[in-house]
Amino acid sequence: MMTVNKLVAPIVQETYQSPFSRWNESSWIRSKPFREGDIEGLPFSPDLVPLAAHPAIASDSTRWVTVLAYRLLAHLQFTTLLELSHVNPVCSSLAQGRAPISLNTLQRNDALRIYCDEGGHALFVELFSTQVEAAFGLNRSVIGRPQFDRIIEKIIADHQTRLSPNLIKLFFVTISETLVTKILNNVPHDPQVAPIVRAVIGDHAADEALHSVYFRGLFPVLWQSLASYEQEEMGQLLPQLVWAFLGPDRQLEYSILRRLGFNAKDSEGILEEVYVPDQIAQVVRQAANPTLKMFAAAGVFENPAIERVFADYELM
Ligand SMILES: [Fe+2]
Ligand SMILES: [Fe+2]
Repeated sequence: MMTVNKLVAPIVQETYQSPFSRWNESSWIRSKPFREGDIEGLPFSPDLVPLAAHPAIASDSTRWVTVLAYRLLAHLQFTTLLELSHVNPVCSSLAQGRAPISLNTLQRNDALRIYCDEGGHALFVELFSTQVEAAFGLNRSVIGRPQFDRIIEKIIADHQTRLSPNLIKLFFVTISETLVTKILNNVPHDPQVAPIVRAVIGDHAADEALHSVYFRGLFPVLWQSLASYEQEEMGQLLPQLVWAFLGPDRQLEYSILRRLGFNAKDSEGILEEVYVPDQIAQVVRQAANPTLKMFAAAGVFENPAIERVFADYELM
């Protein structure tokens, strides 16, 4: 339940324009089928999997396809956890008027529409995960808990004396919903990828484009609702929330390499070669660009201390 920042006067948004005016016709849950058919083509875009380009993987086509398939399964499992354990608890609070900002009826009902969308996404990616596991002989236990979930838990534990866990979760979801990832943008249009994979991820991407509009509108209101000491604290966390969502999950890739038969030392060595720190920061900064612009427009960087933290995290 969100019971934060009682000091702040509610902000009613009378000028709200719903991005969901055509939700009945456009959303997956209201208008589209479960995608069916065999996986014919690649399971994932190779361009989005730096590990797949490493010579130890690229030189063996079975290994290469298995890495791509695990990357797909990890994306699907990431999605289920994000929707069920992060986005929907926040949407539930927004829909029930328990957020620290005041929302009108249409805004609350739109949060409920997102909740329904996310429930649908979790269902279709779960069903598809089972198909992917069977088609490529994968073992779901290799995937483990996604990095973002581990990082968010630690951020909350480290800061809960100064910021409410629910407020941190609300900001994480608001940010992650505006970070429409390269996976959602690119996979549906990659002709190398199996049509069913492109369709499943395309269905998700179409809904997320509208969620992004909703949360992009919410962010400045949320930011302005914070007391200045909360802005100071939350501002320090924003770059960590961006990295949690966009940074590479090395633990996942390490597990995949071990599953493929590489020993611990070789697996670490491969990952050292795949992930060059400067290049990672550049990729994250690029992916975060629209969200960084949203922060700027909301006035986040008016505080020089916050701007400095973003620079420390290589996001400036
Ligand atoms: Fe979703
Ligand atoms: Fe979403």
